[in-house]
Amino acid sequence: MLTLLQVSDLHFGPPYLPRVGDALLRIAPSLRADAVIVSGDVTQRATPEQFRDARSFIDQLPRLPRLAIPGNHDVPLFRVWERLSDPLGEYRRHIGPDCDQVLELDGAVIVALNTTAPHRTIARGQVTGQQIEFTRHALAKAPLGAARVLVAHHHFVGAPDQLRDRNMLGGRRAMKAFIEMGVDVILGGHLHRAFIGNSLDFFFDGPRDRGIILVQSGTSTSRKGRGRERERNSFNLVEIHDTWLQITHYLYYERNDAFGPMSRHRFPRTSHQLKDHRLQPVPPAP
Ligand SMILES: [Fe+2]
Repeated sequence: MLTLLQVSDLHFGPPYLPRVGDALLRIAPSLRADAVIVSGDVTQRATPEQFRDARSFIDQLPRLPRLAIPGNHDVPLFRVWERLSDPLGEYRRHIGPDCDQVLELDGAVIVALNTTAPHRTIARGQVTGQQIEFTRHALAKAPLGAARVLVAHHHFVGAPDQLRDRNMLGGRRAMKAFIEMGVDVILGGHLHRAFIGNSLDFFFDGPRDRGIILVQSGTSTSRKGRGRERERNSFNLVEIHDTWLQITHYLYYERNDAFGPMSRHRFPRTSHQLKDHRLQPVPPAP
């Protein structure tokens, strides 16, 4: 089994909630994760001070292989020259690479795409044809049986609620390609509310034997939650088993000053890279 801890939209700066951040740092070691995924928007306004605080927080999470990607808030909004000339300079200096990345673990290949598009859009994001090819290339080398995981800050589909969120540019085309590549799961942020679903609920004009499991995290540590997670905070724990996946959505409970499981979702892994193509039974929930 391989376990990924996904935190998102930390938003260091005025929206950051230290009490919630401390609760996340308290629970994180007990989750026994194998890797930490940070799916963008580590700051509110991309200032060096906010990045320093975000880095210090991330460094207090368990010391594990880590994959972080920037979000649109990690690009300066008002420092126009910087936005044009080196939009992710501060992110790179304090957090890590801003390029598309691959993390290979025993049991999974994780591709993280930088979907910020500071020269095209302020908040919306974009996935390009080049990034689709980058993903195809990275997954072509995935060992048999390895889960194929994709991380992007922006959502490929909006949450299934009444709030309207525009999908990122190029998202539909990319989703179709990712289904064909056998991507098992996409981890995203940006929406500031969690939902766990299946791409087939939104896209059904490609192969329909299986979709991609969509795992959106709310804001893990800021007051920017929306919809069902307005003034709430969440993160996800993704367990990758040989033949099934489990996603546990954790929510912060004010009265306990602690995160606790809100829901748990199990899906059979039917992806073509499994040795046995038959649908595997999902074990009963504990
Ligand atoms: Fe955000």
